[in-house]
Amino acid sequence: MSYIEVDYPQQKDAFYALLEQQLALYTGDETNETARLANASAVIAQAFPNANWVGFYLVDGEQLVLGPFQGKPAVSRIGCGKGVCGTAWKERKSQVVRDVSCFAGHIACDCNTHSEIVVPLWRDGAVWGVLDMDSVEMGAFTEDDRIGLERAVRALG
Ligand code: SME
Repeated sequence: MSYIEVDYPQQKDAFYALLEQQLALYTGDETNETARLANASAVIAQAFPNANWVGFYLVDGEQLVLGPFQGKPAVSRIGCGKGVCGTAWKERKSQVVRDVSCFAGHIACDCNTHSEIVVPLWRDGAVWGVLDMDSVEMGAFTEDDRIGLERAVRALG
């Protein structure tokens, strides 16, 4: 299958409808979790050109461990409650960080990152990982993005 470029619309509902369609197209028929998450990170990265890191951290005992991603090498393990990812896991709640320098305990992987969003992944009533996305723009992610991404990652559960 060769990737066909798509133009993401500005309007958020249309943007997220297309993102969900693309996720279904590139992950829907696959049962292997690594393959699904690898393509999901690639699809999301294509949709957010200002994102400098898009990927997954997956629950592994008392820690999150790095999963498939697009971007620079990153920290491989994050404790529960640590950083933005560990906070999203502990609180079982998405984190929208307008300015990472204002988030106490933020774990910096790329000094070009200015804002971040982390969305928990749910399966059978438990969080099994998180989607993490960083942006070079300040305040890149909004409540609309939180709602859109929470809905989009449901299909990965
Ligand atoms: N900033 C994250 C760490 C992971 S990197 O952004 C890829 C955090 O504070 O949890």
